[in-house]
Amino acid sequence: MRATIHGSGGIAASRTADGRIPARVCVLGYGSIGTVVADRLSRGAVPGAELVGIVHRSRVGDLLAPSLSLAEALEIADVVVECASQEAVWEVGQRVVDAGCDLLVSSVGALSDPDFAQRIAGGGPGRVVCTHGAVGGLDLLAAARDAAPFDHVLVRSTKSPASLVQSWMDAPQRERISSTAARLCVFAGSPAEAARLFPKSLNVAAAVSFAVRDWDTVSVELYADPDAEMTCHEIEASGPIGRYSIKIENLPSAANPRSSAVVPYSILRTLAHLTSYPNLIA
Ligand SMILES: NC(=O)c1ccc[n+]([C@@H]2O[C@H](COP(=O)([O-])OP(=O)(O)OC[C@H]3O[C@@H](n4cnc5c(N)ncnc54)[C@H](O)[C@@H]3O)[C@@H](O)[C@H]2O)c1
Repeated sequence: MRATIHGSGGIAASRTADGRIPARVCVLGYGSIGTVVADRLSRGAVPGAELVGIVHRSRVGDLLAPSLSLAEALEIADVVVECASQEAVWEVGQRVVDAGCDLLVSSVGALSDPDFAQRIAGGGPGRVVCTHGAVGGLDLLAAARDAAPFDHVLVRSTKSPASLVQSWMDAPQRERISSTAARLCVFAGSPAEAARLFPKSLNVAAAVSFAVRDWDTVSVELYADPDAEMTCHEIEASGPIGRYSIKIENLPSAANPRSSAVVPYSILRTLAHLTSYPNLIA
């Protein structure tokens, strides 16, 4: 169980300006996203949240908070912010929620297996919350879905070819993508298949699928474009009460071209909502 906030053996938590005790946050994964999340948290970007530790495999520069094992993190944290991978969610997700910690998921595609999603999100006592990550407009899609199921949802993503080459591809496939001179469709299928085949590149399809709450309605297309300087996500949805067309162009992260630079800031926004200071993110 988590340590008590005050008292022997516990963590003496600082208080926010309005006297509240901030949520103790541990960042899991210290790559392109985790380093930015930890940096901003350590500088007070989310008033309702305090960075208390980092669970990492590969250190990138100096750590901004104590290095913790997962077991140590679960002793002191209220929220674990996953910035690692789908595998990490599968490996540690259950332990996190069983320990009573909330799990903020960035690798949303990890939840595309409905049995796994139901198991970790359904039981508690910790909550599972997904970030909107590289896309937006999900609140409106979710509201429209509250009124009636969508007839059709398409997520079309376009990225630089190099970011789409996967370890499971054979040499001709890799070469075809890497050397393409024109926009090339590299995948068309379901969001669950997208999450399986492109685990670091199509979390947005899973995020949209959660918003519309019907994975079978959603189709996904992925393009490699040698001229793409920005990562582009287009969401088209139509249903009984509206038609929606959302286009998002994100600059890739300088540290990892598979991730968009905006993602850590989306995670911080999600954390701000989770920790009850929705309008105060710095
Ligand atoms: N929701 C979205 O829109 C969105 C967008 C981009 C990326 N993502 C997700 O975020 C993840 C991280 O992205 P990134 O750009 O920071 O990747 P990255 O490769 O730069 O960093 C990931 C880090 O996590 C570490 N890691 C992996 N498993 C771990 C574990 N079990 N415990 C501790 N550390 C672990 C790795 O060693 C690495 O340092 C991606 O894999 C992707 O699934 C989501």
